Order: sequence, then structure tokens, then C-alpha cells
Amino acid sequence: MEEFSKIMNWKNIFLKSEDFQNNNPTKFTFLENIFYEDFYKKLYETFPKISAFTKIETPDKSTLRRWWGKNKKNGILDPNEKDNGVSSEWNLFYKYLHSDEFIENIQKFSKIKVNKTKHFVFLNMQYGGYQLPHIHDVGPSTLILIIYFNKNWPNGEPGGTYISKNDGSEIIFEPYNLENSCVIFQDGPHAEHGVRYIERDTERKGIQITIEGFSTEDGWSCYENKVERIEL
Ligand SMILES: [Fe+2]
Repeated sequence: MEEFSKIMNWKNIFLKSEDFQNNNPTKFTFLENIFYEDFYKKLYETFPKISAFTKIETPDKSTLRRWWGKNKKNGILDPNEKDNGVSSEWNLFYKYLHSDEFIENIQKFSKIKVNKTKHFVFLNMQYGGYQLPHIHDVGPSTLILIIYFNKNWPNGEPGGTYISKNDGSEIIFEPYNLENSCVIFQDGPHAEHGVRYIERDTERKGIQITIEGFSTEDGWSCYENKVERIEL
């Protein structure tokens, strides 16, 4: 029997459930203290070293990523795949993301028809890191979570994923507490987001998780032509 009871602090998370559901036209919110402190500390201390990441430099972004296990790119996850390159706590958390408890709670929180964890990727950014505002809009039932693992992020500094309008000209929300916190949003036609240019020597550590609707008859709920167009 796995010990799932001390991973995520759902009591805390549910406090923001209405805020998430009421935001319009994109459902989103910002969650703080999402992990229990002891578990967070273990994830924080064993976050993969930057040397384990792949640098991605394209006109729209400068970032670093490390995919789960043998994934070379952000492919669809095998729920049973262990990753020997990361700690037992990270493997436990990965397993938890595929558990009934996690899925039931995320459904209860979001009221969105998601039922399976699809992607998981470690993220990092350094000096010069950024991501231009973009919209995925892959389908009607996709949730994106970006979870942060950084101590003492300076208030007002770029690095967190913002939610914006009109090609980044209007930032609706940008997080500054990047420790044990999470930006969660429903993917969709208005779910614009990005990261401002980082102008100091730092590492901005995080993970991105995608949860989506899935059925054995119809497959993933994303639009068919978007299946292969995975863009974080
Ligand atoms: Fe994105």
C-alpha cells in the first residue's frame, strides 16, 4: 500500500475551487502550499540538477526541460514507468498523479471532465529565459498545472507563468510566490500564457502536468488534429 495521504494538501487546494471555476473567459487560479511541507521539502531537495535538462531555444522561447523517464519529447505518459534518474519521492508523486484519489480530487476541484494524466515535464529557466504569450487550445477538457519549487522568489520579478490577454499586452495575473505553489488553468481558446524575460542569474524550477479526458472508445478528448501538436 503506497503512502498517498501526506502528498497534496487538498483542504488548502479546495479553498480556491470556486475562484477557479468562476474566472472567465479562462478558468484559472493560483494555489499556494499545495504539498504538505515534509513532502514538498523532499521534492525540492531532489529536484533534478540543471545538467539533466535539455535546452530549448526557439524564436518563441528559451527554456530547459527534462521529460519523464525515457521520453525524448513530451510524449504521452506510461503510468507505470519508473524514472531511475529521480528520487523515490518524485516516483511516488508520479504514481500519485495516476491514482484514483488524485483524479477524483482534481475533478471535484475543477468540475472539468478530466480523468487521466497525460504529460509530465520538469521545467527550468535561467538568465535570458522566457516564453512568449501563446494559446494551446487543444480541446475542451484539458487542464494544465505548473508547479513551482523555488525559495524566496523576489516579489515582482519575472519567472512565473502569467495569464494574459491580447498577445501579452495585458497581464491578468503573474505569480511571485514560486515556492510550493501552482498556476492551474483550463486549456481553451482564451487561455493565453507566457513567461517574461528573466534578467538575473537564477534557476526557475518547476514542473508542468497536463490532465485530460480519456476513454478507451474515443481516446484523448483533445481535437484530433492537435494530438501530435504538443506545445508547452
Ligand atoms: Fe504553454
